[in-house]
Amino acid sequence: MPNLSVKVGKLKLRNPVMVSSGTFGYAEEFKDFIDLRKLGAIVSKTVTVSPRRGNPSPRTCEAPAGMLNSIGLENPGIDAFIEKKLPVLAKAGPPVIVSISSIDDPDEFVLLARKLDKIKAVAAVELNISCPNIKHTQHTTQNSQLISQDPRATYNLVKKVRKATQKTLITKLTPNVTDICEIALAAEGAGSDALALINTLTGMSIDVDARRPRIAAVTAGLSGPAIRPVALRMVWEAYQKVNIPIIGMGGIIDTASALEFFLAGASAVSIGTANFINPGASVEIIDGIKRYLIRDKLKGVKNLTGGLKI
Ligand SMILES: Cc1cc2nc3c(=O)[nH]c(=O)nc-3n(C[C@H](O)[C@H](O)[C@H](O)COP(=O)(O)O)c2cc1C
Repeated sequence: MPNLSVKVGKLKLRNPVMVSSGTFGYAEEFKDFIDLRKLGAIVSKTVTVSPRRGNPSPRTCEAPAGMLNSIGLENPGIDAFIEKKLPVLAKAGPPVIVSISSIDDPDEFVLLARKLDKIKAVAAVELNISCPNIKHTQHTTQNSQLISQDPRATYNLVKKVRKATQKTLITKLTPNVTDICEIALAAEGAGSDALALINTLTGMSIDVDARRPRIAAVTAGLSGPAIRPVALRMVWEAYQKVNIPIIGMGGIIDTASALEFFLAGASAVSIGTANFINPGASVEIIDGIKRYLIRDKLKGVKNLTGGLKI
C-alpha cells in the first residue's frame, strides 16, 4: 500500500487531503454525507476575537465555473468557538486547523494564537491574512489593502504570531498580488511552517436587468474551477522559491485536479467549493490518489510533490 501520510510543520497527517476554511461549516454539516475520520485535516471557518455577523445579503452567487462569495468572516468569536464549535470539530477525528483573522488589528492575531496555543484539540493555526479590509498602516510599506499583499506586513505579522505559539503555523496567502514569491518568502522568513495557496481572487458580477451587483458588497471572492489555473501557477512559482510545504487549493474538484497541485509542488491539498457541489469530493479524492500511486508504482504521495516534467 502506498504511503499517503505527509508532514506539515510538526503536524503529521494520515493523508494529504484537507477541507478548506469556510467551505465545510464546523464539520457537523457533513457528518451524514462522509466518514469524517477519513480526512487528512479539517480547517475551521476563520474565527476572530469578537463575534461577527458578516456582510449583508446576497453574499454568494454563481460564476462561470465557480462562485463568488462575500461572507465577511461571519463567526461566533473566539470564546464561543472554543466552547461550542471546537469540541464538535475535535470529535470528528482528524487534526483540527484553526483559521484566525482580524479585521483591523494585527495584535488580535497574537491574542488569538496565544489562546489557541494552550488547547490540545488545536493541531495547527492558519493565519488568514488574505481577507479584505484589514488596516495595517503601521506595518505596511505600500498602499495595499491586505496584509498578504505586502511582503513587509506579512513578515511582521507572521514574526509576531510565531513568538506567540508553538503550534504549527500555516500562512494563507492571497492571489491578488503581482508577485506571489515575494510574499511566500516573507512568510517563510518570518517562521511560518507552511503556506496555504490560494485564497479567493477578487471579482464581481452584475445583474443587467436590475443594473445592480449580484453581491451586496459589490466585489467578492471568486473560487472553484475558474481559478484553478491561477492557483496552480502560483503553487508552482512559490515551490521554486520556498522550502516549507505548500498546501495547494483553488478549484480542486476531483482526483486529476488534486494531482495537478502535487505535481506543481504542493505537499498537501485542500478542497473548498467542491464540497458544496459534491460533499463526498474530499474522500473520493483520497481514494483516487491512492489508486494513482498504485497504478504508477509510487511508494508515497511525497514522490509526487514537484514531479512536473518540463
Ligand atoms: C463560501 C466561502 C467561504 C470562505 N470562507 C473562508 C474563510 O473564512 N477563511 C479563509 O481563509 N478562506 C475562506 N474561503 C476560501 C477557501 O478556503 C479557499 O481558499 C478558496 O475558496 C479557493 O479554493 P476552492 O476553489 O477549492 O474553493 C471561503 C470560500 C468560500 C467559497
